[in-house]
Amino acid sequence: MANQTTKTRKLGKFDVSALGLGCMGMSEFYGATDEVESIATIHRALELGVSLLDTADAYGPHTNEVLVGRAIKDRRDKVFLATKCGIVRDPNDPNVRGVNGRPEYIKASCDGSLKRLGVDVIDLYQLHRVDPKVPIEESVGALADLVKAGKVRGIGLSEANAQTLRRAHETHPITSIQSEYSLWTRDPEEDEVLATCKELGIGFLAYSPLGRGFLTGQFKRFEDLEPDDYRRHNPRFQGENFQKNLDLVTQIEGLAKEKGCTASQLALAWVLSRGDFVVPIPGTKRRKYLEQNVAALEVTVTAEDVKAIDAVFPPSAASGQRYAPHMMAILRG
Ligand SMILES: NC(=O)c1ccc[n+]([C@@H]2O[C@H](COP(=O)([O-])OP(=O)(O)OC[C@H]3O[C@@H](n4cnc5c(N)ncnc54)[C@H](OP(=O)(O)O)[C@@H]3O)[C@@H](O)[C@H]2O)c1
Repeated sequence: MANQTTKTRKLGKFDVSALGLGCMGMSEFYGATDEVESIATIHRALELGVSLLDTADAYGPHTNEVLVGRAIKDRRDKVFLATKCGIVRDPNDPNVRGVNGRPEYIKASCDGSLKRLGVDVIDLYQLHRVDPKVPIEESVGALADLVKAGKVRGIGLSEANAQTLRRAHETHPITSIQSEYSLWTRDPEEDEVLATCKELGIGFLAYSPLGRGFLTGQFKRFEDLEPDDYRRHNPRFQGENFQKNLDLVTQIEGLAKEKGCTASQLALAWVLSRGDFVVPIPGTKRRKYLEQNVAALEVTVTAEDVKAIDAVFPPSAASGQRYAPHMMAILRG
């Protein structure tokens, strides 16, 4: 098993914290926001050595990058800053999303992100979704031009399939791929993305490693989600899927208790144990949760633990798809 007390990991050629901080929920999607506590959470993360911060122009939209920029203004040197472009929000309906991977769009988006973040260079610039209308070589060519121009240091993709990842990597070295990966979303194991990363020396950023909060056990009923919470649209939180999935989490809580940790910590430690090139980026807007999540780095997941976890929570056990149908349609390009 990987040594989880190691506090840094290699993401492609970069050294980053073994655990990142996802900043998305600080601005949108997961209930009420609190900018003061969010900024304090980012500062606490940096104090604890969590250097990798993940945002995107689509979060807010745009406001999350502004918030992150404000938080890191006087401590840029402590941060490995990751952002993304390529998901286009419809101003008339925030739930509608398009994808744009055209070179001119990517370059203009990067300038916008640099400005909102208030930085000269972005450490990791990621294409949020692969655009099926644009050959990946063209999108990656634009990202490579940004590296040459000194605007970004490394480039990444999100939710690309293994074949696209290979083609992209032939065009320009890819630092990392970011995809959903957790106890309830095992797709990167099944579709060879993790194996391809390992083979090619590409890092893997595991997003929603806590199953958008479900794996923490904090949600007991659909009504626990605030009325405008995005997760109300997620099939795994809906109807009878909710209780079926909660029954799985209860089993994980039992295993965690035996190990003297929480379900969240076991879920994160499990992701960390999947390979030394895997970096989970749990999201939170609270210092309290951040500190609990960082403590997951001290939890060791043994081969017996993996077996026990697989026995109660096998790879395809989750009920419901991980996104609503219109969002499923733009995945795995
Ligand atoms: N590339 C993509 O398409 C994509 C998609 C989704 C997310 N992401 C990235 O991945 C990051 C993480 O994913 P995520 O935020 O969707 O999901 P996540 O990390 O699986 O879960 C976040 C949720 O869990 C809660 N939480 C966190 N730590 C907790 C703890 N110790 N105890 C109880 N609850 C806890 C948070 O609560 P609070 O909000 O109350 O703090 C939040 O509601 C995002 O911030 C974003 O940067 C990328």
